[in-house]
Amino acid sequence: MPLNAQAKPLILALDVSAQEEAIDLVRKLKDQVAYFKVGLQLFTAAGPTIIKKILQEGAEVFLDLKFHDIPNTVTQAAVEAGRLGVRMMTLHSLGGEVMMRQTRETLQEYSSREGWPCPKLLAVTILTSIDPKALLTLGIDHALDQEVVQLAKSAQAAGMDGIVSSPRELRLLRQAGLEGLLFVTPGIRSAEAGADDQMRTMTASEALEEGADYLVVGRPITQSPDPVQAAQTLLREIHIG
Ligand code: C5P
Repeated sequence: MPLNAQAKPLILALDVSAQEEAIDLVRKLKDQVAYFKVGLQLFTAAGPTIIKKILQEGAEVFLDLKFHDIPNTVTQAAVEAGRLGVRMMTLHSLGGEVMMRQTRETLQEYSSREGWPCPKLLAVTILTSIDPKALLTLGIDHALDQEVVQLAKSAQAAGMDGIVSSPRELRLLRQAGLEGLLFVTPGIRSAEAGADDQMRTMTASEALEEGADYLVVGRPITQSPDPVQAAQTLLREIHIG
């Protein structure tokens, strides 16, 4: 049995540039998808309007802009995201514990004062595109795994709701006693599919067995000739739908 599986564990990465294409995917898939992830590409192309449009469709938004700046800047940007109606968003844990904690506290304060739901805050640890060699060039000379666990602990201490991590890191994070966090994992591919540019993939069922709460899936669904069918197949694989 999956450890933490949500009733609706699918997050769809809307990595497209055209608003119409994004909204078409939202309309087709909103029954199967818990959150639609707006990342750097779509947000830069379409701006805050895209968030309003997704919300008008009755769907939830996960804003994945991986904020990393001084505490005041990140805090104010997060408040604006909360005001837009975003329900989940990402920060870089390398921005530091003060940045994360201040964002958490200020979001809570503004959401209760202004009456909007406080978004869940997810911390990114080390990007999955960084390998041990690249870590060394950043001046970090201990093991990548150790660094991921250290950053996840710091995110938990700062009041983050969860972590974005590679499915390969889930076991390690659970063993490190970080159970209370939400684990959101990209890099999901079916056994038969290609990996695109993802380095270390897992199938949806494997990731859930390892303790993922939410699975972020993009191209296997968005670039399929039949996105609805692709989402249904994935959900059937994990015995949902
Ligand atoms: O198309 P694909 O399923 O690979 O999309 C995965 C999504 O998850 C993309 O939006 C990507 O930016 C995001 N992501 C990732 N690896 C991380 C963090 C985020 O693939 N470490």
